[in-house]
Amino acid sequence: MFLTLGLRVLSLSRTFSTSAVASFPKLKTHQGAKKRWKAISSGAFKRAKAGHSHLNVSKRPDRKNRLSQLAYSSPTQTAILKKAMPYS
Ligand SMILES: *[C@@H]1O[C@H](CO)[C@@H](O)[C@H](O)[C@H]1NC(C)=O
Repeated sequence: MFLTLGLRVLSLSRTFSTSAVASFPKLKTHQGAKKRWKAISSGAFKRAKAGHSHLNVSKRPDRKNRLSQLAYSSPTQTAILKKAMPYS
């Protein structure tokens, strides 16, 4: 009993670079979001745009260039993604 309590205090005193607070049970990362989004230092998330990898012969260069750019999460998406990916 004392051991588990001691470990909990220890883990709370350590500083992690995650936005997740020490909680039990452990939170699961949303695997679909993990595959698509990556956290950036501002706290928001970035993702690649769809439609750039193939079937591109009929797309104009400016469209392909636009699809190659990164997209960033809106404030609403950021709030949802922080819950979906608590350890990012
Ligand atoms: C166009 O699609 C091919 C595959 O069909 C891909 O290898 C290539 O990288 C694509 N080019 C661009 C500019 O998206």
